[in-house]
Amino acid sequence: MFLPLLACAPSTPLTASPDAQATPEADATLDPHSAAEPHRVRTTHAAITFAVDFDAQRIQGRVVYDLDRADPAAPLRLDTRDLTINSVSLISSEGDPSEVTFRLGDPDPVLGRSLEIDLLADTEQVEIRFQTLPEGSGLQWLAPAQTAGKAMPFLYSQSQAIHARTWWPCQDTPGVRMTYRATVTVPQGLVATMSAAQETAQTDAASGTFQFIMEQPIPAYLVALAVGDLEFASISERAGVWAEPAMLKRAAAELRDLEAMMKAAEALYGPYQWDRYDVLFLPPAFPFGGMENPRLTFATPTILAGDRSLVGLIAHELAHSWSGNLVTNVQWSEIWLNEGFTTYFERRLMEALYGVERANMEWSLGYQDLQVTLQETAAAPESQWLHLDLVGQDPDAGLSDVAYEKGALFLRTLETRYGRERFDQFLRAWFDQHAFTSVTTEEFIRFADGNLFTAPPADGGQHEDLEAWIHGPGVPPSAHLTPTAAFGAVDTLRAAFLDDGDVTPLRDAAWSAHEWLHFLRGIPAGVDGQRLSQLDSGLDFSHSANYELLAEWLEISIREGYDPAQPAVEAFLLEVGRRKFLVPLYRALAASDLPRAKEIYARARPGYHAISQGTLDAMLEFR
Ligand code: BES
Ligand code: ZN
Repeated sequence: MFLPLLACAPSTPLTASPDAQATPEADATLDPHSAAEPHRVRTTHAAITFAVDFDAQRIQGRVVYDLDRADPAAPLRLDTRDLTINSVSLISSEGDPSEVTFRLGDPDPVLGRSLEIDLLADTEQVEIRFQTLPEGSGLQWLAPAQTAGKAMPFLYSQSQAIHARTWWPCQDTPGVRMTYRATVTVPQGLVATMSAAQETAQTDAASGTFQFIMEQPIPAYLVALAVGDLEFASISERAGVWAEPAMLKRAAAELRDLEAMMKAAEALYGPYQWDRYDVLFLPPAFPFGGMENPRLTFATPTILAGDRSLVGLIAHELAHSWSGNLVTNVQWSEIWLNEGFTTYFERRLMEALYGVERANMEWSLGYQDLQVTLQETAAAPESQWLHLDLVGQDPDAGLSDVAYEKGALFLRTLETRYGRERFDQFLRAWFDQHAFTSVTTEEFIRFADGNLFTAPPADGGQHEDLEAWIHGPGVPPSAHLTPTAAFGAVDTLRAAFLDDGDVTPLRDAAWSAHEWLHFLRGIPAGVDGQRLSQLDSGLDFSHSANYELLAEWLEISIREGYDPAQPAVEAFLLEVGRRKFLVPLYRALAASDLPRAKEIYARARPGYHAISQGTLDAMLEFR
């Protein structure tokens, strides 16, 4: 058998995959970002109640855990951060809960405090009462002014990577899975949604009580809640859209291919395992593009371009229903197993739905992003490995295009070298045989040894050098790049325009958003200011409905000191909280006019999510 990695990876200890059969004797390599000791006591089911109080910006909660006690002498260990624990009770098969004392560990700024509970011989369940604090990073409480309707408040959770512990005490590691039930009470007139099946009777909804059940075991970071003035529009029997009423029509129109996307995904890698698939559009403060909460993706409204040009993001979150939600990275150091696989899968979906040319453009744009990241991190080569070392770090800090784009490129290279048919069978088997478990890079390599590298590559060359991808910087020379003729044509027209300033050929080009994005990315630093006003008056980028293009254009405008676009810069920063857009815009602002960057940030900051605030506080030295 071909063992390309195992023989030469002294730096990576084998990590335990705590599947359901884990025993106390099993390798107990623990998640460095969690206090849980799941090989001794693990939570298997959570029955939760959340009472949502918008006035106090607080959730009052109660959770009852079912336990798997592999070690009868061991305490239950949970994670908390900025969370108040009111009481803990033990429940035996006999009877009523009996209150007990508990221990909170010393606070760590990243990890929070462990919650340790001694169990009795007959303890079957543990009940914990708790309440959230306004500063907890896992919830964002929005004022009515931050919503589309401007009349009602909004609340949503964002738990990946380790923010779940700020809104309920849990074993906050992707290595532990559980089922859950939840009852959520909200002020009358508001609607609660969760990453679970709705079980609410009409009458209960009217009075503000909502019920949910998740029957498939999932890790804590995939438990999600949103409350607002929400309505639903159906797209197919099993797919639909949630949004504020003002946004609903637009959202449903943008996602009209959702069912086709699900079918394409199933044709590639097997049946969708989560029954329904809905997408919830949040207000623009949401710090990410999308979050793959099971059955209910959370999405930024900034992908509603009107022409479906940005639905690659939905393909991405849908793909996580296999890579991430079904087969999950056991620790955040292995996040390429979630994000790299998903980015690869996303591009396959785009190819199936919209053709190979569009998919190739997305591969190309992704590769450009990766190149920028690799340049920026040249001084930290280990941050360019697929398998990261995040011990002692905030796992959110380890997230970069390396996991996404280098990870996807690795799989793309395997696909090309071993043949698409063989690779697809292999990937489908990976999902099938690891469904509802958490996995390591080592396991993936072993699986590839047994199921993909059993015969030489179809191209007749040597086996792929896995070590170079997984424990090496940059991109190996064997990487399969995807040039696109379309971008070559864009380069030609851009050069002509920079030369003569004539926008007519650009107007006539009938480009897709992807081509425009490539066009803008190639506008050189120090470009003649006249060219920018020619572009702006000819093509009106400052008012683009496509936020990817708008953000790119505004960044250029800041960099080049193009004054007419500055009101649009400010309006954008005050409206949108998506970190991917904020970081380059504030970086450009800080480089050109630091006091102005700080002044705008001071005004916009209260509307941003804690995750975006954290990144920008550090970048702009805000205190
Ligand atoms: N799971 C991620 C978001 C995430 C990753 C949140 C790590 C917190 C920690 C999600 O699937 C994602 O990747 N979103 C991207 C969009 C995607 C098309 C690249 C985003 O939000 O930009
Ligand atoms: Zn993702």
